[in-house]
Amino acid sequence: QYIQDFMNTFKYEGLTFDDVSLITQYADFLPGDTDISSRLTRNVSVKIPFLSAAMDTVTEGRMANAMAMMGGIGVIHKNLEPEVQAQQVSRVKHHLNGLISDPITFSTNDTLETIAIRRAEKGYSFNGFPIMDNDGKLVGILTSKDIRFSRSKRASVTDIMTKNVITASPDTNLKQAYEIMQEHKIGKLPLVDKGKLVALYSYADVRRLIENEEPLFNRDEQYRLRVAAGVGPGDYERAEILNDREVDVLVVDTAHGHTKGVIDMVSWVKNKFPHIDVIGGNIATGEAALALRDAGADAVKVGIGPGSICTTRVVAGVGIPQISAIYAAASALKGEIPVVADGGIRNSGDIAKALVAGADTVMMGSVLAGTEESPGEKIIYEGRQFVIYRGMGSLDAMKSREGSRQRYGLSDDDDIVPQGIEGMVPFAGTVSKVMKQYCGGLQASLGYCGARTIPELKSTGKFVRVSGAGAVEAHAHDIKITKEAPNYRR
Ligand code: XMP
Repeated sequence: QYIQDFMNTFKYEGLTFDDVSLITQYADFLPGDTDISSRLTRNVSVKIPFLSAAMDTVTEGRMANAMAMMGGIGVIHKNLEPEVQAQQVSRVKHHLNGLISDPITFSTNDTLETIAIRRAEKGYSFNGFPIMDNDGKLVGILTSKDIRFSRSKRASVTDIMTKNVITASPDTNLKQAYEIMQEHKIGKLPLVDKGKLVALYSYADVRRLIENEEPLFNRDEQYRLRVAAGVGPGDYERAEILNDREVDVLVVDTAHGHTKGVIDMVSWVKNKFPHIDVIGGNIATGEAALALRDAGADAVKVGIGPGSICTTRVVAGVGIPQISAIYAAASALKGEIPVVADGGIRNSGDIAKALVAGADTVMMGSVLAGTEESPGEKIIYEGRQFVIYRGMGSLDAMKSREGSRQRYGLSDDDDIVPQGIEGMVPFAGTVSKVMKQYCGGLQASLGYCGARTIPELKSTGKFVRVSGAGAVEAHAHDIKITKEAPNYRR
């Protein structure tokens, strides 16, 4: 009710992050005790409420891996051929699968001695080698027990190997492998197709991934990292290929989501692939949020022009300052589906403000573009390391990439009117280093606001309107900064 009253006071005004500040509230816990998990879509949650932007200088496989391992999610951009984008999705889905795709094998012609020599030469410290016959078929497995109880070094492998090998089909997932290996008490599970070995699970790896679940990893039911990918309106073939590679979430990613093209694409995806959650965007009004919800969207993405590289507001004179836009979408949806706040995040304090305005997660471009894992080109400028970061609507991105033109509704022949710029951001280290600062900052916000969880923050958070003088006061002032802080930039 407080936020509703507050925002209604500014009904005809557009507010953004620096226009508001959060009010402290009583807390009987410490920031470190707070839980910052949230809802990404109707069916997918995140352990930290962060997405990396679907931009060609921000999210490819490496960034998406790093984001999911921190508990968030990456949206792989669509300025890639569909097959290449799908390979990036696969890379994330298979990053933690415990599957050895090219196992070390020995042949029936080997003896224990020849195997011992090869092991010493190559430094293999493990046991459990599949044994192949001369036709390349799996005929046994040489376990550490077989080796330990063998009487002679010269023994032929065929005499000592375990012959009744328990195998499984090539599509066996990590969880199924774990169950089979538990049931049969085996250390290795070869995956076999018509007698040929295609891959191998090793119990030690499988067990580590299943039993010692890293608390942060954002994983699906099969313990694979989660990943999202961008598609455009009418991108049916791309969506099909991404579905084949088991993408978790599709993001219909455009600059104007309140359009027939986006609405139609959202409902096409939901009809065709009901098991995939779909996010529609970008939007900035309640009407647009309801239209996407009615089309079947599992979340909406809000942001018309707040991004650091965006020029939409000046080129087209269109857009709504981000706090007001988030509130408009979220208040219309009333929590029915989650809201992703996309763009404009500069400092960690902006995140809690986005959440109190009604968002459930935030998407970030410039914050992550400078990391080790971003695909942006790393350059040296005046002796310091920077990373190239460009808008998807920048001249070069639009000139060279169809995905960018599609995002802005331009056909190939159009004269390009850019809505973004290209620049560079300071090198920022690893995603993990950056995300830890943003998570810590968000936990500090929750602590100050007396909220133990994001849903609690969303229902009890309160804003105060910041005056021009208040905004100056908020930043470092009357001092020359001599040492950079890892979490402060202007
Ligand atoms: P930040 O502020 O996190 O913003 O760097 C990232 C978001 O900006 C959007 N985006 C653009 N918007 N012109 C725009 O008007 C562009 O060229 C452009 N490229 C990206 C996008 O929503 C992204 O997530």
